[in-house]
Amino acid sequence: MKRTVNVVVTAAGTVVGQGIIKCLKLANTNGGDIEYRITATDASPLAAGLYRGDFGVVVPLATDPGFVEAIIGVTKKSGATAIYAGSDEELPPLSSAKEKIERETGAKVMVNPAGVLEACSDKWKTYVFLKENDLPRAESAVPEFKESFYSVNRFPLVVKPRGGHGSVDMHVVRDRDEAELAMGAIVRNGSRPLIQEYLGDEGMEFTTGVTVTSDGEEVMSSIAMRRTLKGGQTYKAFIDDFAEVRVSAENVALKLGARGPLNIQSRLVDGEPKIFEINPRLSASSPMRAVAGVNEPDMLYRNAVLGERPKVTEYQKLVAMRYWNEVYVRQSTFQKTEKEREFVGPDSVVLPYF
Ligand SMILES: Nc1ncnc2c1ncn2[C@@H]1O[C@H](COP(=O)(O)OP(=O)(O)O)[C@@H](O)[C@H]1O
Ligand SMILES: [Mg+2]
Repeated sequence: MKRTVNVVVTAAGTVVGQGIIKCLKLANTNGGDIEYRITATDASPLAAGLYRGDFGVVVPLATDPGFVEAIIGVTKKSGATAIYAGSDEELPPLSSAKEKIERETGAKVMVNPAGVLEACSDKWKTYVFLKENDLPRAESAVPEFKESFYSVNRFPLVVKPRGGHGSVDMHVVRDRDEAELAMGAIVRNGSRPLIQEYLGDEGMEFTTGVTVTSDGEEVMSSIAMRRTLKGGQTYKAFIDDFAEVRVSAENVALKLGARGPLNIQSRLVDGEPKIFEINPRLSASSPMRAVAGVNEPDMLYRNAVLGERPKVTEYQKLVAMRYWNEVYVRQSTFQKTEKEREFVGPDSVVLPYF
């Protein structure tokens, strides 16, 4: 017999939030014993994912002082037992208010501890963590150490923001002049630059999802895909075993003290994985992992809420090719949602013709 549980998915307009919704809905259709009833939140009534849960609620931005209280309100009202975060911006407020939210709502907040978020939010800190723990990494430097870095690492090099996302302001530079220009552009855009060794082969880039039990002791799953990107997002993905990539990601997750989901990005250079980014959350590619047999949001729920310790060691080898799609609602539905800040589904359409 299926039992229905309520969950909240935030930032349902992002590709990560949409991905979490896809995973949970896939779990509903896969004959499992849980039926997830989803309340999607977003700051915009135009967020596609807002209309793809069972309910949608428009909430303040993560930077708004009322954000946490709004999430507590939505969680209580829906009777949710878990909260999944769909955007980077929401991770710090949800993590620092985790105890309060869990106390007041009884729901589990599926967000990593503050120390993990801090090590991952800044690519320089990520590098320092990897180096201190002798884990595989792309050699990196901040501008004040550029001379010694240039003396050891040859051009081309990469210059990118320490706190970047979606490949924004990521530069491959051929000499010192180009490096200076790139660093200047990053500073002008309000960020701090990082100089990194160039990991040559773009055909050897991997994104790996790891889930760790909520006590931080055990890896429940790891699944890697080789991927190419478009607009900073995974575009073509080859899901395969990639044992050496997965093992390095598992080691990183445990050393880092991750609890819950982690996403590790690396490139293989001469057969060795070199890690250049860690995202302390579920990732936009989670729905592809779920189709292959590793449903990360479902596993996290079973562990954090039900106390199970699921373990998945095998998955399907698949090729995923991404494309754009549309969600339709009637104008009257949109106008009502805009006005009342709430949507009660199902009243949106995704056509199954493609
Ligand atoms: N050191 C590097 N060498 C080669 N390519 C890189 C390097 N760092 C980043 N890239 C490319 O740029 C993309 C974005 O960089 P990343 O560090 O993941 O930042 P973000 O995803 O936060 O923008 C990567 O997926 C990769 O394709
Ligand atoms: Mg990245």
